[in-house]
Amino acid sequence: MRESGALVARVLDMLQDEIVPGMSTRRMDELAEQFIRDNHGVPSFLNYVPKGEVGVTPYPATLCVSINEEVVHGVPSARRIVREGDIVSVDCGVYMGGYHGDAARTFVLGEIPAEVQKLVDVTRECLDLGIAQAITGNRLGDVSSAIETHARSFGFSVIENMVGHGIGSELHEDPAVPNYGRAHSGVKLRTGMALAIEPMIALGRSRRAVSKRGAWVAVTEDGKPSAHFEHTIVVREGAAEVLTRSQSGKA
Ligand code: MF3
Ligand code: CO
Repeated sequence: MRESGALVARVLDMLQDEIVPGMSTRRMDELAEQFIRDNHGVPSFLNYVPKGEVGVTPYPATLCVSINEEVVHGVPSARRIVREGDIVSVDCGVYMGGYHGDAARTFVLGEIPAEVQKLVDVTRECLDLGIAQAITGNRLGDVSSAIETHARSFGFSVIENMVGHGIGSELHEDPAVPNYGRAHSGVKLRTGMALAIEPMIALGRSRRAVSKRGAWVAVTEDGKPSAHFEHTIVVREGAAEVLTRSQSGKA
């Protein structure tokens, strides 16, 4: 899992260098898939079929690229161009040596309104605060509550119908890791548990990300921007081990 996690981090580092206004999200996806395959990994999301959902087509790409009001699962397209002033959430999963790694970052293109920059910064802080709670002996609700409390203290809304997850030989394993909840509640965290912690936080009031029927992309209900950061971590005593940390000090 350290190897798949490190490759995910390198993909995001590479994209952070390559992304420019005018680039299509399809181009970003091509760069990511090539990079993963050149490094002997397999894209985790490509052809992914969500368990128990009907009428959803297998996921058709390597990345999820979700712009502005898109919360998650934006499908890359040659016609979708990133622009100055956009916030662009890029989510990537890699399968290698029998295990998955999964991480996301929200990139800022050029000048954006101060409140949107604050949303991005606070969402990143939410991830760090959640990770800080992912230690042996704590409970899952300690992670969730740390994220929710920080987001709400700035008046931002937590997207409740999209959650983090256990991760390992499957991309999505138990337990679900909500971005809201009560401290000291939920399952006990044990040394060695691997979790993908992924706050999705929105400006405005939307508490859900909604999709048109059959579509992958999920957007805020009020059209306000949403940010997303994710790391794959392992629960340890004292401090979690982050498997998808940037290799270049970028994130
Ligand atoms: N990081 C997201 C998640 O963990 C991305 C999944 S995209 C999918 O749920 F295509 F694989 F569904
Ligand atoms: Co995930």
